Formats: sequence, C-alpha cells, structure tokens
Amino acid sequence: MKMTREQKYRLLENVSPQEIEQLLQQSESSPWRQQYHIQPTMGLLNDPNGFAYYDGYYHLFYQWFPLGTDHGMKYWYHLKSTDLVNWIDCGIGVKPGDWFDSHGAYSGSGIEHEGKLYLMYTGNTRDSEWQRHPYQCMAIMDEEGHIHKLEQPVIASVPAGYTEHFRDPKVWKDGDWFYCVIGAQRDDLTGAIVMYRSHNMLDWELLGELQTALPQFGYMWECPDYFEMNGQAVLLFCPQGVAAEGEQYRNIYQSGYISAAPLPLPELQLEHGPFRELDHGFDFYAPQTAIGPKGRRILVGWMGLPDTVYPTDSHGWAHCLTLPRELELREDGVLLQRPVQELALRRGEKAMFAGILPEGRSSYVGFDGVAYELDCRFDRASNEIGAAAKVFGIELRVGEQQRTTIRYEAEHRRIILDRSEAGQPLAEDYGTTRSYELERPLERLQIFVDVSSVEIFANDGEAVFTSRIFPEPESRGIVFFAEAGQVKLHAEKWEYPSRQQ
Ligand code: FRU
Repeated sequence: MKMTREQKYRLLENVSPQEIEQLLQQSESSPWRQQYHIQPTMGLLNDPNGFAYYDGYYHLFYQWFPLGTDHGMKYWYHLKSTDLVNWIDCGIGVKPGDWFDSHGAYSGSGIEHEGKLYLMYTGNTRDSEWQRHPYQCMAIMDEEGHIHKLEQPVIASVPAGYTEHFRDPKVWKDGDWFYCVIGAQRDDLTGAIVMYRSHNMLDWELLGELQTALPQFGYMWECPDYFEMNGQAVLLFCPQGVAAEGEQYRNIYQSGYISAAPLPLPELQLEHGPFRELDHGFDFYAPQTAIGPKGRRILVGWMGLPDTVYPTDSHGWAHCLTLPRELELREDGVLLQRPVQELALRRGEKAMFAGILPEGRSSYVGFDGVAYELDCRFDRASNEIGAAAKVFGIELRVGEQQRTTIRYEAEHRRIILDRSEAGQPLAEDYGTTRSYELERPLERLQIFVDVSSVEIFANDGEAVFTSRIFPEPESRGIVFFAEAGQVKLHAEKWEYPSRQQ
C-alpha cells in the first residue's frame, strides 16, 4: 500500500502504541525473517552508518524508517558488539525532526574525537515546495552511550556548482586534520565527491572537488568512503545512472571502488585505476568501512537496493545488513573481501563430505538447512578423478520446484549465480542471473545462507555475490553437481543456530 507524504514523514512519538504493535506483529509473522543478520524489527533498513570502533565496541548504526517499507522519515538505529557477531541492541541512535533534519537523519559516519564518538550525518529537509535542502549535521555520543545533536549544522549550505543532492559525509583523520568526503551531484547533473577538512570536527573548510578520471560516470555519487591501506588509497562510492555493460553494472545502482595513490592532501588529485564493482550479486549497496583495533578494515553493506520492490514489503519490513567482511588490498589495487573470522563463533552442528563429486547431482547426509555456513574446496586437477568436470556447482535452498544455483564453467572460469528459480521473484527486469569471470580457477566457495539471503565468497575473497532470495521454508536441500566429468570436493557445513540480536 502506498503511503502518503504525511504518513511517511511522521515521527515515531506521534504514532499510537497500537499502530506500532500492529506493525511489529506483521513483520514478526513474516516467513522471511532472517536468523543471524541485522534486520529491523519493523519498517525499512537501508545504509549502514556511523560504523566505528569506540570505547571497546564496534558501533554500527543503520538508516531506519520504522513505519513502513517506503523511504520516509529516517532514523539512525544503533547496535554495538565486541565481536561483530553478537550485537547489543542500543535502540534509536539519532532521531530526526529538528529544523536541520526535519525530513530524516540521512547517512553519515562516526569517528572518535576527544574521548567521544562524533557522528556526522546529513540532515534532510524539504521546504513548502517540497524542494530538498541538505545540511551536514553532528551528533555526539559519550561513553555512556548518550547521543546529543548539535543545535546547528556544521556545514549549512551546498557549495556553488552542486545541486541539493549533497549528502553522506564520511570522516577520517590524517595527522592533525579531520577530512570528509561528501557525495554530490554537479549542476550539470553528473556525480562527484566534494571534500572538506576540520581541526575540531565543528568548523569545516571546503577544499573542493575530488579530481578523478571519471568526470561523467552517472548522475549522482552516494555514500563515498576514503581510506588508505598498505601505502595505497581506496575510494568507495555508489554511482547512480551508470548503464549496464555486459555482465557489469547490472543492478539498478552500482557500488564499487577505485584504488589509487594516497591523496597528496590538501591537493585533491586522485591517480587511480579502473572502477571495480565490490559485489557481483543482486542486492548490495551503500557499504561503509570501519577500522578495527588491530588495524583491520571491515566493511558492511546494505543487502538491498533503492527503488526496488521486495517480497517482504507486504509484510511491513524490508532489508538487512550484510555480514561484516575484512578487506585486504592487493598490490595491484584489487580489494579482496573475506568474511570476518569471528563468524566461526556462530558455528553449531557440523556436517562434512570429502571425496569425489561424480557426474550428475549428489546430496550428502547433513547437508541441508536454511541458516548455515558452507565451506567447499574443489580440485579439478586432482589425479584421483577421471575426466575433470567442465561445469560444477551447488544448488541451495532446493525444494520441489526451487533452487538457487551457483554454477562454475571451467573453460571461462565463470561463476554464475542464478536466482530464476529461487522462490518469490523480484527485480526481474534487471535479470535473474549474475556472473563474474575469475582470474584463476575456482578452488573455494564460502557460502552463508540465511532464511532469505545468500552471500558467496569465491577464492578467498576474489569475488563476492550477495543476494536476497525468497524461497519456501520447506526448500532446504543442498545439491552438488558436476557435468561432463568429476571434481574432487571437500565440503564442511555448520548450522548457524538462531540467536537474539
Ligand atoms: C543511499 C541513500 C543515501 C542517503 C540515504 C537516505 O541508499 O540514498 O544517499 O543518505 O540513503 O536513507
């Protein structure tokens, strides 16, 4: 049901307890509630925000519209964790409704300063003509977890040359300065990133536009994130309006990165390589990174896309966050993404198979379920097998007429994720398969299945496919297959028992 503007921009405090109770019950009874991903109790979740390690915890917030699955009045919802696996629910973090965030506390980031966690975000407002006016705002969290918003924005206007699509500040520190990148749209309707710096997180000086070799790459760049590792720099951003190109850029909006020489600050020239997609699945957007206590760079994304109808919309809730991934930057500028090792804390009952996967379809004892981790190693070069399979793969969430298929074609080292038979369809206009050509033969697939999602990591993080799927609860099978030959297989599977978040 479409919501009216008035319904979409209400504050929670003006909603009756009965209405909230109804919404909660509606989403609780959805058969597609996840067991171990971060998801909203009701309403819509989008971007991860304010992801930072502070005072002994990883703090993670997300964009939340509580009252439905539209993009309405956004709050920041707050969780914290010592291990990135068990999350403590801290409730609402940033509440919108002041003059500078009257129509939502939009995305932003967090950084420690003088013993407190500074949360810089975009206040979204609309005037009487429904024109958008963004303000860059600050909320400050103390060690007790109390968050208070500053009464004035820290950046009160959009600089000349840009439209009102100016949002998502991501802050980092370099020497004595804090820097921030902000997603922007130029007056000529092309996407860009604008930079500021500050000594104290309060007074921000405009540095100018980040100079890249992508001056005409979509109409808006959302959610930028800049960081340095191993003597190189990485800029993540989400360009909107980039056309599909073969197997690339197939989703409604893209999310990727360029790697570069570190910025010669305050000069803003970025000498970088090609734009690469971060994820090759169907549902991934607006990722944000944080740096952990031992210098680990961790990424969390939104497992969803804007402007797309999802099957849970009619159940009053939508979306979840991805599992956290640890990043490694290879010398050639390629980012590797691996599931954080703490996820092993979730492992329950184990099943295992080691042997030869024969031609055809095979099932093994203990290999089934709706919430589990699956770690498979494949060897086509083994002398224990006959002819090496030309194609092999795994079907997940297999039911009578259902399956989500991961297929590997050895000749082109191509992985194909096929959700055409995965269950309730979604976004079919954007195709029902995604594929990626690996650099080297497929040796390992780490797969995380939850009630309505799969995350697939190929070859220790060379490629990731993140996708929602909406199968029947009875579709629990796992089927391995090989075509025109055999492959050696070592597969381990752990149940992920459900836990309270
Ligand atoms: C990305 C985004 C951000 C914005 C937020 C609003 O998904 O559009 O640019 O700050 O969502 O919820």
